[in-house]
Amino acid sequence: MLRPIIVALDFPTFDEAKVCVDNLKSEIDIFKVGLELFLNTKGEIVEYIHSKGREVFLDLKFHDIPNTTEQAAKFAISQNVFLYNIHASGGMEMMKRVAKVSRESEKSRVIGVTILTSLENSDMHEGFLTDATVGDVATKLAKNACDSGLHGVVCSPHEAASIKAVCGKEFLTVCPGIRLESGDLQDQKRVATPRWAVKNGVDFMVIGRPITKAENPLEVIKNIYKEIGYGK
Ligand code: C5P
Repeated sequence: MLRPIIVALDFPTFDEAKVCVDNLKSEIDIFKVGLELFLNTKGEIVEYIHSKGREVFLDLKFHDIPNTTEQAAKFAISQNVFLYNIHASGGMEMMKRVAKVSRESEKSRVIGVTILTSLENSDMHEGFLTDATVGDVATKLAKNACDSGLHGVVCSPHEAASIKAVCGKEFLTVCPGIRLESGDLQDQKRVATPRWAVKNGVDFMVIGRPITKAENPLEVIKNIYKEIGYGK
């Protein structure tokens, strides 16, 4: 079983990311690679993480017509990533085709991004011409992702329990916005502590700065495992 913390490798250079993987690999099974690092390392960071015996969450958020997204999904699967994501707003045909190739692979799980947390209700009116709230749209998109066969969604820890209630407990909830009890919020707003998150249905916590910017990142990770009772 993979441990429930995913460390976000939000670094611009290959060297910084490598140092982080090398330092944390004893306590971390999955590292998240986003667009910045993937592009700056021409994708080579994925192979590096695998060469250290660790798994990759490829956070490239594919969003295109069904055929193009399916081809991108096949690329992610060919890289043997454990997790990757697509935009749930790309529609159910797109999600179904991606879910099918992912489920055939048996290794790569695909999760849906519902509504980016940087968007608010006013953006729904402006960009999508709807009076529905961000929460309503996100919940509907999570249900569509589930009905299309995706393995889970990226969501706020505050939505994990209700998504599990609608989509079932096997449906993965992968959540950023995690902050330590005593920690700095940085630019995150709707946050949760690791203990609260795990108690409320979060399967994997995506954590960046509270770990990567800490003086002793390994100690922070071990304290989180202790806080959530992991390994007992
Ligand atoms: O440093 P921090 O713990 O805030 O990092 C969280 C990670 O999760 C970052 O890589 C950020 O881009 C990502 N993320 C997020 N909120 C989302 C989706 C992804 O914070 N809704």
